[in-house]
Amino acid sequence: MDDQTRYENLCQRVRETALLQSTSALLEWDQQTNLPSQADDYRCQQLTFLAGEVHRRRTDPELGELLNQLSDSPLTEDPESDQAAVVSNLKREFDKDVRVPAQLVEEITKATSAGHNIWVQARKQNDYASFAPTLSNIVDLMQQKADAVGYEDCRYDALLDEYEPGAKTADVTKVLEALRIELVPLIEKIAGSENRPSSEVLHRNFPVDAQKAFAKYASEQIGFDYARGRLDETHHPFCTEIGPNDCRILTRYDSSFFNSGFFGTLHEAGHGMYEQGLRSDQYGLPTGKYCSLGIHESQSRLWENLVGRSSAFWKFFFPVAQQHFPDALNDQTVDSFCASINTVQPSLIRVEADEATYNLHIIIRFELERDLIDGKLSVEDLPDAWNSKYESSLGITPPSFSDGVLQDVHWSAGLFGYFPTYSLGNLYASQFFASAEKEVGDLGVLFAKGEFSDLKLWLNDHVHRQGQKYSSAQLGKRVTGLDLSHESLIADLQSRLYPVYGL
Ligand code: CO
Repeated sequence: MDDQTRYENLCQRVRETALLQSTSALLEWDQQTNLPSQADDYRCQQLTFLAGEVHRRRTDPELGELLNQLSDSPLTEDPESDQAAVVSNLKREFDKDVRVPAQLVEEITKATSAGHNIWVQARKQNDYASFAPTLSNIVDLMQQKADAVGYEDCRYDALLDEYEPGAKTADVTKVLEALRIELVPLIEKIAGSENRPSSEVLHRNFPVDAQKAFAKYASEQIGFDYARGRLDETHHPFCTEIGPNDCRILTRYDSSFFNSGFFGTLHEAGHGMYEQGLRSDQYGLPTGKYCSLGIHESQSRLWENLVGRSSAFWKFFFPVAQQHFPDALNDQTVDSFCASINTVQPSLIRVEADEATYNLHIIIRFELERDLIDGKLSVEDLPDAWNSKYESSLGITPPSFSDGVLQDVHWSAGLFGYFPTYSLGNLYASQFFASAEKEVGDLGVLFAKGEFSDLKLWLNDHVHRQGQKYSSAQLGKRVTGLDLSHESLIADLQSRLYPVYGL
């Protein structure tokens, strides 16, 4: 067999695995939208079976053999080639997959699926003590997993790598610490301003049918392709890809809060436009797959915040919004409305946080989970550590575990290493947007006319079509010429929020 044949053989195997994975994705989408309540057990059997098949294929020794042969082949010599990107990314994943013993994988699955229900109950009853043993067990299993995968500097690296391949804890710590140092006084300055815009208008009555129509219209206008995707409703919004031309975004509507449906849809449409912008001829291969969760989140945040909260965006959309919601918006101007959607208020709950304080919620979680995994913080001491970080960063102390340390699903699901990607996404979003503006020209002038395709095409070329050719740090550097830093995000927040507060 020559190397070209080996490469085709490799791609064929991986594309077949993608058929199984996309089938699972469809079953999961259906589970979150349409599944009858009694059908859950069998659906879990279906998903577990498919997950087993996927794992078997991903750890097949014949796959490892092919990857070894191709790694040393002239076919993958040019590091910029598709072949090199495909082989090196698959080899990295394969080497990790085979290092984690099957028994540990099974134990993690068991602990996290039981852990979910225990967490739900504990949160409901505000009872941290009933969740602590479960969390201890999950932390212990994640430490074992990190040790099995291996790491150079610290254990957390091994877990972070799953969501942000190639990222190192030390670098993330440095950039997020620099961000925190700038954010805390920025938020204090806003809190101390005399000019206090109200967000009351956002809590008026927004009929759900009108919200659906407006959200669909706006997401289509910015470039989400409904011939290759759908928008549906769910409890926990997300975006999933079921094939090269089938991207599903999900949102939720609240008739007495404008933001959750509208900005939730823009956010998921941003994720969806990334998926739709990947190279469909490479579907299933690393060259047709998103780079990292941080880069994925950069695309959702860019459309949600940098585009969707700008005054230029609302110059175009506000009159349309008034047509959809005449009762709620007729006494508003575009300026008063823009001020309302850009208010900042320290709060307890991450998913309800505004754009500025949101990153502090993330930094707190990142520091805590890093220290849990590295063995520097015990599960017993976690609630106190949580509360003191909230006090020092946001000036508030949670009155209960439910509104504090128990609020997020991630840790009960074993998702350690996931949280920092939210803030990395915000940082990348600002840097990408600044570069786009430099190269495309004044984007606000285009937005005010309802034109978003120049920005979308720029992102298609510079970010989406790169797939996994580069790590997130390499991609950021290639696109922006800069290392990741807090500066662009801080500048964006200042330029948009300070005028709202008369600063
Ligand atoms: Co997101």
